[in-house]
Amino acid sequence: MEMAGSLPVPSVQATVAAAGHAPVPPRYLRPEVATDVVVADDGNATTTIPTIDFQRLLLLDPEESARLHGACQDWGFFQLINHGVPEDVMEAMKGSTQAFFALPAEAKQQFRQEAGQLEGYGQLFVVSEDQKLDWADVLYLNTQPPEHRNLRFWPHQPDSFSRTLDTHSAAVKHVADRLLGAMSRNLGLTDRVRLVAGVSGGISLPSMIQSVRMNYYPPCAEAADKVLGFSPHSDSDLLTLVLQVNQIQGLQIRRPGDGAWLPITPLQGAFVVNVGDVLEIFTNGRYRSVEHRAVVNAHTERLSVAAFHSPSIHATVGPLPELLGDQEAPKYKTLDHQSFITLFFSAKLQGKSFLERMKKKHLSD
Ligand code: OGA
Ligand code: NI
Repeated sequence: MEMAGSLPVPSVQATVAAAGHAPVPPRYLRPEVATDVVVADDGNATTTIPTIDFQRLLLLDPEESARLHGACQDWGFFQLINHGVPEDVMEAMKGSTQAFFALPAEAKQQFRQEAGQLEGYGQLFVVSEDQKLDWADVLYLNTQPPEHRNLRFWPHQPDSFSRTLDTHSAAVKHVADRLLGAMSRNLGLTDRVRLVAGVSGGISLPSMIQSVRMNYYPPCAEAADKVLGFSPHSDSDLLTLVLQVNQIQGLQIRRPGDGAWLPITPLQGAFVVNVGDVLEIFTNGRYRSVEHRAVVNAHTERLSVAAFHSPSIHATVGPLPELLGDQEAPKYKTLDHQSFITLFFSAKLQGKSFLERMKKKHLSD
């Protein structure tokens, strides 16, 4: 895709390795984070995100389908269990991700991002020399369909990396397709491809695209409560599935209702799934794309693998006419794909929420 790139920044992992107990560079410090309201995740089903059983969805269990619908409407986030991605596939993905980030700095640099591109090893969304930086390194790759891959950026080490990511990404995309199918039924859409194809329609399921972002959050012994691993953001895609690589907590969501940061404790073997901006727009706001962030641990690194699913690059993005019927006014603009990408990046540059800029303020917008 023709996208703006990100300015090069130093590897945080390498900075930590070189620094000993040196103070954290000011570019990473956000003292205001230390005073943010964070609520305890007490595991109570009414105060944290729902858990959805994928097998029960596949059996069209009405109760589970209703819970999925509620999760998308009320939380924009849920944990997915019994998803059918084999344990060995997930374990291999965890192992490959850990092995890649454990390589010597020079080995990883072979796969670094190039100017004007997002894929590769580096960092995303860095647009100015004076913005605050995230305490993380990432490896970002286009994964599905296979013809979208740029193998130039796919690590050769560990030597199983490509095979592992190939298998994992296909299995995760399959789950995402099925989840979108269940959501389509819940929304009363007659055609289950609508959520993938967008307003222009007529495009079959395989055209959904997937990219994978492997996140490495180094420990921050000096100022863990004053840096962020991932700045507050919402995902710009349809649906994101996140695999937690090690059992270190870090993901927090802005709880709908009171706006407090709610830490998510991932269930062993589950995916954390969230609704992205495009799904909020397609559903005219029925499903919510909720802001989230990642905090870092003082003593232990944290790793995650996020798989982003987006409609075909030819899709038109806007509220689905089939959902609106004759009665409901669209809350978001309808844009062709190129205008959508342009708006997305200008919103990033201006530090404004992308969704805000997609909202119609007047009927004539
Ligand atoms: C992301 C994301 C959270 C995490 O990659 O978009 O929100 O837990 N990741 O790493
Ligand atoms: Ni995210």
